Amino acid sequence: MSEQPDVFSPHVNPDNASIAETFFTKPAPDGQLPQDGVNPRAALRVLQSEMILDGDPNKNLATFVTTFMEPEAHQVIAENLHRNYIDHAEYPRTAEVSKRCVRMIHSLFGGQPGEESPGTATAGSSEAVMLGALAMKWQWKKRRKEAGKPDDKPNLVYGADVHVVWDKFCRYFDVEPRQVNIPKGKTTVGPDELGPLIDENTIGVIAVVGTTFTGECDDVEGIDRMLQELKGKGLEVPMHIDAASGGFVFPFTHPEFKWDFRLDSVVSINASGHKFGLVFPGIGWLLFRNEAQLPEDLVFYEDYLGEKDATFTLNFSGSASFVLAQYYNFVRLGFNGYSSVMRAMTKNRDSLVEQLEKEDALEIWESERPTLPLVICRVKDNETFDASHLVGELSRRRGWLIPAYDMPPDNEDQKIIRMLVKLNQTRELVDVLCNDFHDSIELLRSADLSHVGEPPVHSGTGY
Ligand SMILES: Cc1ncc(COP(=O)(O)O)c(C=O)c1O
Repeated sequence: MSEQPDVFSPHVNPDNASIAETFFTKPAPDGQLPQDGVNPRAALRVLQSEMILDGDPNKNLATFVTTFMEPEAHQVIAENLHRNYIDHAEYPRTAEVSKRCVRMIHSLFGGQPGEESPGTATAGSSEAVMLGALAMKWQWKKRRKEAGKPDDKPNLVYGADVHVVWDKFCRYFDVEPRQVNIPKGKTTVGPDELGPLIDENTIGVIAVVGTTFTGECDDVEGIDRMLQELKGKGLEVPMHIDAASGGFVFPFTHPEFKWDFRLDSVVSINASGHKFGLVFPGIGWLLFRNEAQLPEDLVFYEDYLGEKDATFTLNFSGSASFVLAQYYNFVRLGFNGYSSVMRAMTKNRDSLVEQLEKEDALEIWESERPTLPLVICRVKDNETFDASHLVGELSRRRGWLIPAYDMPPDNEDQKIIRMLVKLNQTRELVDVLCNDFHDSIELLRSADLSHVGEPPVHSGTGY
């Protein structure tokens, strides 16, 4: 290994200055490219010193995104970062592995085995959402053209419990968003809320399986029944399932729960490999029920380096590491391994609930319905502090990253705290967190908060 000078060693003579003196005493390069580079160790140290300022992923209970993978998975990722998974011509084996993942996920989501299960790897659920919704728009245009009807006023129907990515799709791709508020006291939507918004210009209905707000699911079976009834009356409206978080949870925790291609109206599903697929960011998946749902117009054929290639992605480049890491997880864990990991998360989640229930300042929300492994609670109204003070104190105490946020309309008067109990949230960490909750509540009860504004803590539903 080539010798790198460490931070104390002289860097550039004639001054005999150390690396520390030469580089660590200046503001970080910004605004324009530095004229000259530095040695690798100095560059690494500059970067590492900044990363210390970020939150610690291990204490991040705000994120749905994977924060732990095994050393072997790190190896898969490190060894394949230089491979472009979208360059099928140059990396045909990576493309094959990606297709295997698509076939496995299609089958996991209740798809019928076919010759070629259509779908694609994406940068995350957001890209998968854009592509899935575009496919619905194209199919709707085709139906309208065939019927000789105008196709200039497409709309998309969904509840206010969706992730903001759906508003983004509507804005970027010129589709009217028809969003219905969540009735007071409810946390998800069903046919009663969505049905009245549907008309002949509806390209599709979105149902969420594992919402960002409470981890619950829209009434997918009820929406399916309503759409089948509409179809019987001559109005064909498909359903796309946003299973960004739930896609890799419910097949293992609630195999009998029908939310996927087992429902006739479901034409496409997105899921984030980098959430409960247990891969680091970024990897997502888009699956179609069958070939008929993927409009040929959206498949891009191009001659790339002498090979004919077909792609259905927004990007032309992306590291193969995370596709291969997904496959690694499938091989490593199998169905039983994923089920066991989900049980582990659920057990630790249940322990967190059990311990927090002893805190009379908190009200824990328990749902009877299939829910992601997370805990939702709120601070009771009679306390002198609120959810923001509490997560602020937890952050100050030990760097816990826990969001406090408002529920979507019409329930925005409810401020809730959400904690994702992921694989790295071991029982020991759960116990320490519960102690910190207890001590924080005691402290806040005795503190004079009248002069304290809202603490600058993580808010919003996270990613
Ligand atoms: C329900 C839902 N849909 C879509 C997304 C966006 O997914 P991604 O971050 O993988 O792009 C999220 C992210 O949290 C989500 O929870």
